[in-house]
This record gives sequence, C-alpha cells and structure tokens, in this order.
Amino acid sequence: MALWGGRFSTGPDQAFKQFNDSLPFDYQLAEQDIEGSIAWAGALEQVGILTPTELEQLVAALNQLLVEVSEQPQLLQQSDAEDIHSFVEAALIEKVGDLGKKLHTGRSRNDQVATDFRLWSRKTAQLLLVALGDLKQTILALAEREFGTILPGYTHLQRAQPVLFSHWCMAYFEMLSRDESRLRGAIERLNVCPLGSGALAGTAYPIDRQLLATNLGFLSASNNSLDAVSDRDFVVELLSCASISMMHLSRLAEDMIFYNTGEAGFIELADNVTSGSSLMPQKKNPDALELIRGKTGRVFGAFSGMMMTLKALPLAYNKDMQEDKEGLFDALPTWLACLHMAQACLSGVKVNAKRTELAARGGHANATELADYLVKKGIPFREGHHIVGQLVQVAIAENKSLEQLSIQQFQAVCTVIEQDVYPVLELDACINARVAKGGTSKQQVSQAMAAAKQQFI
Ligand code: ARG
Repeated sequence: MALWGGRFSTGPDQAFKQFNDSLPFDYQLAEQDIEGSIAWAGALEQVGILTPTELEQLVAALNQLLVEVSEQPQLLQQSDAEDIHSFVEAALIEKVGDLGKKLHTGRSRNDQVATDFRLWSRKTAQLLLVALGDLKQTILALAEREFGTILPGYTHLQRAQPVLFSHWCMAYFEMLSRDESRLRGAIERLNVCPLGSGALAGTAYPIDRQLLATNLGFLSASNNSLDAVSDRDFVVELLSCASISMMHLSRLAEDMIFYNTGEAGFIELADNVTSGSSLMPQKKNPDALELIRGKTGRVFGAFSGMMMTLKALPLAYNKDMQEDKEGLFDALPTWLACLHMAQACLSGVKVNAKRTELAARGGHANATELADYLVKKGIPFREGHHIVGQLVQVAIAENKSLEQLSIQQFQAVCTVIEQDVYPVLELDACINARVAKGGTSKQQVSQAMAAAKQQFI
C-alpha cells in the first residue's frame, strides 16, 4: 500500500508507478533508513508520542528488519513499494501492527531521505578516505623502492628535462593529498542532520534535534528546515571531489599507459592487471588503466548531471531531487574501484631503469643545463638560450647528444665553453642541480618522501 492513498480515488498507472518509484535504486539506503528510523523513534519517545515499551518494540522490529534485509536482499528487489521509506514502514507495520503506524509522526520523507542520503554518503566517503590513504602509501613505497631511477620529464609529450622517477611518484602523492583534504572538507560539511525538519517547515513536536543529530553521529542539527530538505550541495560536492580525483587518476593512468608502450618500455605492468587479445597472441593490454581513464567520463557526467538537475529548482523539495541518487550511487563506488585498481597497477609495476635512463639521455633534455652553464660564465640567459639552440641544431645534424659534441664543436658556436662543460651535462648533475624546494634533486625528493612518511606514523 502506498503511504498516501487517502486522497486518491484511483491508484497510479502501472507506467507512472514504474516511472515514479525509486526503490529499484534507493534500496541501497535500507540500512540508513532503518538507522534513522530507530533514532526518530527514540526522539518520539522523548516527547511522549511513544511509551518506553512501544519504543522498545519498534526498535526490536527495526533491528530485526535490518538483519532480514541484509541476509535476504531479494526482499528489497521483490517488493513493489514506492521507495525505501515506504518499504521500511510497511515492513514495520507487518511486524508490529498499528504501532508501526506511529513512527512517521512529525516526520516527512523529505527530511528522511535527506538524512538517509547523508548517512550513506558519510559512510561511503569514509571508505574513500581509506582508499586514498592506501594508494598514497603504495605510491610512496614505489618512490622509495625506485629512488635513484631517472626518468625523462615531458612537456608537450616532448622530452623536456630529466627527473627522478620518485619525483614523478610524489607528484601524484601531492594530488591525492589534495583529493583527500577536499573529501575531508566535504565530509565535515555534510555531517549535519536534517531529520526533524519535517516536509519543509520544521516539525511540530518539541524534538531535541541536537540530541537526535548526535545519536546519528552528526556533528550538528541543520539550522533551517527549508534548506535542510532541499539542499543537495553535499551531493554536488562529493561528485566534484570524485571528478577532480578521477581527473588525477586518469592522468596517472595515461602516464602509465604511455610508459608501458613498446615504444617507451619504461615500465611493465603485472599480469594481474592486464589482459590479452582474443586474436593477437602477443598482446598484453593495460586494461585496468584504460578503464580508469574511461570511467572518468561517467563520473564527470554524474557531476554535471547533478548540477543541471539542481539548477533553478525552486525551494523546497521537488521530485526532481529523487534524481540525486543514481549518479552518486554510481560515481562513488566507481571512484573507489579506480583507487583500488590504481593501487594494484602501481604495486605490481616493474620499472626498467635502463630504458628510462637511456630515454632521459636522449632528446637533448640537458639543454637547459648548458644554458645555465653559460649563465655561470657570464652570458645573459636569453643569449645563452639562443646559443644552446644553435648547439642543439649542430647535435641534431651530427646525430649526437649534446655531451657527445667535441670541445671544438662547442667552441665553434661559443668560445666560452670549456672542458668543464662535460660534467655539467651528466644526468646526475642535471637532476641534482634542482636544489630549491620542490625540485627533483635527490636531496629535495628524499626530503619530500620523508615528510610524506610522517603522515603514516
Ligand atoms: N523517493 C523520494 C526521493 O528519493 C523520497 C522523498 C519523497 N517525498 C515526496 N514528497 N514525494 O527523493
């Protein structure tokens, strides 16, 4: 039976019912709806709507229902209740009879759904925080394992300057740390309890809403009932956290896909995160990483979809808002799965230090070093830049690297260059010259790693 039949002389069309029902997806809020109902029953007892015995009966029945739905999830799938709130109320009435009909006193599905969804979001966000922390630890471990390996750093996908492989790792560590802090901020803001706001105007019972909020683990009760039932910016915020972090993961995935190509050969992904081709026996494809890159799109889609749904929506509750759930139900578990997969890809990766070093030596990636050398010899940087550009042309024509040019070849372009140029052009020298904070010198990177390690003790 629907929760609202009294005013209607006929029931809904089958097609409309199917269109309107949210149980097919909001069944995922079963645990939270029951948890919220138990807390609400407690609040009703405090204002004398329920006797202590009635409260006890209701709580026992709700707890029993919780066990039933977790052991037999098909109960939820088979029901034709409109939504999870109708399902829980009907199941309760079936268990305790008329007493169950008292539970909805002073409550609306509008404050109920806002509460359930925040509880679900908070719980899921906690799992994401753990996964972000785990991924960061894996990245740090890889940075430590590979300390000393030199990688070509790229701009425009052209070899630019050599960097430590660990420096590349720690770049992603930084991004994930910001993702983590954004998510913590979102959790803090969503941790406010709408229950007790009624349909929109507040509840007519003198409920201690702060106590109710505390009982549900919220930091505070919402300040304004209109806002409480119609605010979904916590959903937008979580989708934005998910989108930004997926953007980072997609860049990590793309870097690794490139490093894993036959052409680069910098890394080799482990068998357990790759798959083969049905036709080409030699193939070992980076599917896990490609899926991370691909799934980023649907997470962005959920974010923009939610923004569209909420745009210009009048206060307070409108049924449009039922569309808040599927995007988040999809996006957060997708983000979680991608964090886990990224971790699996990184923990099994083999780095081919010979190949990365060879590539770092190519592409004249030490040209900036030579320009800096000229600066030390008293030539203004802009002029030095031009001279080195000419030397790169010579090197290209000779099919050599800069350090393979003879001193005569150097001096033909610029007379201040002497024998002492050669050590400057060594890879290690290029790396270790980057001594200012945040640079790729061994000293800076090991400091960054040590600081990162502090987060985990
Ligand atoms: N299924 C609804 C939702 O998810 C619950 C709230 C219904 N409230 C209402 N006034 N129709 O948003």
